[in-house]
This record gives sequence, C-alpha cells and structure tokens, in this order.
Amino acid sequence: MIGLQQQIQESAGYIRQFAVQAPETGIILGSGLGNLINDISDRKEIPYGDIPHFPVSTVEGHHGKLILGTIMGRPVVVMAGRFHYYEGFSMQQVTFPVRVMKALGVGTLLVSNAAGGMNAAFAVGDLMIITDHINLQPEHPLRGPNNNALGPRFPDMSEPYAKSLVAKARTIAAANNIPVHTGVYVGVQGPTFETRAEYKFMHIIGGDAVGMSTVPEVIVAAHAGLKVFAMSVITDLGIREEENTITHEEVLEAAKAAEPKLTLIFRELIAQL
Ligand code: HPA
Repeated sequence: MIGLQQQIQESAGYIRQFAVQAPETGIILGSGLGNLINDISDRKEIPYGDIPHFPVSTVEGHHGKLILGTIMGRPVVVMAGRFHYYEGFSMQQVTFPVRVMKALGVGTLLVSNAAGGMNAAFAVGDLMIITDHINLQPEHPLRGPNNNALGPRFPDMSEPYAKSLVAKARTIAAANNIPVHTGVYVGVQGPTFETRAEYKFMHIIGGDAVGMSTVPEVIVAAHAGLKVFAMSVITDLGIREEENTITHEEVLEAAKAAEPKLTLIFRELIAQL
C-alpha cells in the first residue's frame, strides 16, 4: 500500500491536468448548500470516482464532484458534496480532500454546513459564522504517526477560524443587510440528531450550533497551515421544548431557503481574499 503523501500527490497530479490555473481557495459546500457552484466560471467538473484515492459520497443532497474554475475572477476548487464520518469513512478519508487542496496550492479554505441551533437567539434559516469549535467526534483526524511534511505533531488551535476572515464576512453581511450570528460549532458523529438532553448539554458546554461535519476538515486545514472561514445555516432548533422532531428533509429545506444569503457572503468574501 502506498503512503498518504504519495496518495495526495497522485490525486493532486490527476486534478492538476484539468486546472487552467492553480486554485487559491478551496471550498467545501454542505448539505443543501451546493448552489455556489452556479457562480463558477470556466468550470471543469471531476466526479470524485475519477480521482485516484478519493472517497465517493453517498448522502442525499450531495453532488459528489470536484469543480475547478473561477469565482469573481479568483481560482477556486470546490467540493460539491463532502465525506462524513457517519457514512463509514475513516477520518483520513473524510479529510483527504483538504490535504489534496493544500497540495494544489490552496491557501484559504471556506466551509459551509447545516447545523442545529442551541442558542436561544437563533431561528431556523439564520446564519452563524463559526468563530470556534468543540470537537466531540469520537476519533481525531490527526491520530497516528505524524507526517512532518504535512504539518506539526501538536498543532496550535487557538485560532482555527481566521479572525480577519470573520471580520470581512461580518462587514459584507452588514453591507448587504444580512443578519449573521457568530458562535461556537460543536462537531458530533451523528447520524442521529441529538436528544433533548444532548442539545442541552452541548449548549451548557458552550456550543451555539451542532453538526456532523466541518470539525475534522478544519483540524486538518489548521494542521496544514490553511486559513479557514466557516459558516453554518441553522436548519433546526434543538432547544425547543415542544415539536422538536427533526428530519433530514427539513434540514435540506431550511438550508435551501437560507442558501442565497450564504452564497452571497461566500462570493463576496472570495472577491476580497
Ligand atoms: N444536529 C446535528 N447535525 C445537524 C443538525 C442537528 O440538529 N442539523 C443539521 N445538522
């Protein structure tokens, strides 16, 4: 079996054949949040299944392709559909595309996701800029021998979400009359949504929103020295006392409704990177 670094190089080498210019920004789009791909010019689409060593995603609402091109004139590489730990992928597989993006030359990673709200000030359809996270996933993506060529053994995590990008996004949101919250994202394994007691627990420990993605990718991005910006669409509220059953369809529907706001912020942010 070939090593991780060689796999990254083989994946990147394959993708590079389709790239007119090296991407500066990597983008991972969450469930029901794939429409930013309509803003990509000069696009080249590569199904994940064609890329050596890439996993293939299975969840409804995920497109499963890598798209190269430009947004607002800036070269990007976009994942339409991501890999989740709950699907059965290893953490190494979940985070592999981030490492490939780094190898392609990416310096900044933008991430979106659908998340459950726990902050009493949040409503369904709100946007939350992630300023920090709490990792409750059961396995760490950097567990195992460290490859120093990919990053340090003990990465600093004092600012996994770049403050400069948070500030830029807030300015963009205000200029476009889009209300945004900032807050802490709790990353869990899933695939169950949380029990009422779990939502309460996650709020007590400091979480504002909870979801089943993002944290592994952000950890690996921090390890690789990438600047990260991430934003959640609040698709359901875990803290309501009544009527708080949650379905995947409801999550996708709420994500879709809020998507234009999120897409605008991402597009303008890319222009300012
Ligand atoms: N919990 C976990 N993941 C989620 C949620 C939630 O309430 N909503 C969307 N993704």
